Amino acid sequence: MAKQVKSIFTCQNCGYKTGKWLGRCPDCGRWDSMVEEVTAGRGPVRGKTIIKAEAMPITSVELVHDQRLATRIGELDRVLGGGLVPGSLVLIGGDPGIGKSTLMLQALCSLAAGGSKVLYVSGEESVQQLRLRSLRLKAEDDNLLVAAEVDLDAILAMADSARPDVLVVDSIQTVFSSDLTSAPGSVTQVRESAMRLMMMAKQTGLPTFLVGHVTKEGAIAGPKLLEHMVDTVLYFEGDRNHVFRILRAVKNRFGSTNEIGVFEMRTNGLKPVPNPSAVFLSGRKANTPGSVVAASMEGSRPILVEIQALASGSHLGTPRRTVLGLDANRVALLVAVMEKKLGMHLSGHDIFMNVAGGVRIMEPAVDLAVIAAVASSFLDKGVEETTMALGEVGLTGEVRAIGNIETRIGEAHKMGFKRCIAPAANLKSSLQAGKMELVGVQSLAEAMEALF
Ligand code: TYD
Ligand code: MG
Repeated sequence: MAKQVKSIFTCQNCGYKTGKWLGRCPDCGRWDSMVEEVTAGRGPVRGKTIIKAEAMPITSVELVHDQRLATRIGELDRVLGGGLVPGSLVLIGGDPGIGKSTLMLQALCSLAAGGSKVLYVSGEESVQQLRLRSLRLKAEDDNLLVAAEVDLDAILAMADSARPDVLVVDSIQTVFSSDLTSAPGSVTQVRESAMRLMMMAKQTGLPTFLVGHVTKEGAIAGPKLLEHMVDTVLYFEGDRNHVFRILRAVKNRFGSTNEIGVFEMRTNGLKPVPNPSAVFLSGRKANTPGSVVAASMEGSRPILVEIQALASGSHLGTPRRTVLGLDANRVALLVAVMEKKLGMHLSGHDIFMNVAGGVRIMEPAVDLAVIAAVASSFLDKGVEETTMALGEVGLTGEVRAIGNIETRIGEAHKMGFKRCIAPAANLKSSLQAGKMELVGVQSLAEAMEALF
């Protein structure tokens, strides 16, 4: 019988499949994203052995405690939820050059030094390049095996014969299966490779890291399905012009998301930053107009950040609002509240905002600090160096209660802050103060009075 060759078109954005070419994907609406892929007869091989499973009462499931394998890089373990879970598949995404390969190599070196046998498979660098990199990182170990390979079957065979404790595949977009005719990096290839690696991880209990590229839009290249498939998705982000890198869990089946790890990129690799507040506040000038400190909760950890604002007279019909590190819409809303409730005429001013150190804060608990920073620049009056502002601000100019106030205040106290402007509603609860002067405010007007 002649082999049946079938042509299908796959959307490179969402993975939608159709029998004929379409200009626009009916599923995600993206134009010009359909790519022809030819499947020869039997189609993709979906894992040759399927785990045989039977349903059972949840109460008779055997509990396995504390089997996590710590990488001994504190900031990475924190984001993973305390170490690597056996059989877990971790996707780590980030812009090119941000340091994904460096982080993976360092993590493996650290594991190797701890006595684990680890395998790093790179589809982007030669083994010589990997050696050079590890020399530069001053981290080498006989337990660290490296290979330059892109063939999926070869990678699976290598893992099978070497039996490592941890596997890294850098990157999933370079891996290809010869069972499929489409090009490496296409949706079908990425999905098939990830699926087969996942099957292996689940069957053998091998924790596997997949490095993933990020598209212009900021999503991990390949179908969204990839993010659904893996257990943990980490994003490595930061401004390439800054030394700080932030590792963020956006999905974690084995731990909390929102947890972040902070690293500093040095000439000899990434250095974990166990006390980010001190680093983010370093370089702050005392009593400068336009600078206010707030405490943001990143996962379970409070981090002090410096919110900076510059309000300068505008010559433009529509004044500029340039925001880095904060939600621009939120800032626009807060500026409107300031105009209305504080009577500050900001419509004639360009406003620029930044969070020092290249951090990104999306928490409404920093609202009051944002407003204080803008007001401070607008009025050209500095806020006392050891004063911090906390609170969410509503549309009527009210200062609303926020969560984890004690933890935030505790961190501020540790960093030498003496006074905190906080929502009055928070102070009513049984707050353990004493060490700090707490000023409870109910409205923006009260907050301004307390600050300036
Ligand atoms: P890399 O890990 O290759 O990034 P990715 O895998 O995410 O593409 O990191 C490359 C960048 O990191 C490169 O611009 C140089 C810088 N770097 C250092 O500053 N110090 C180092 O020790 C290393 C290995 C890289
Ligand atoms: Mg790389």
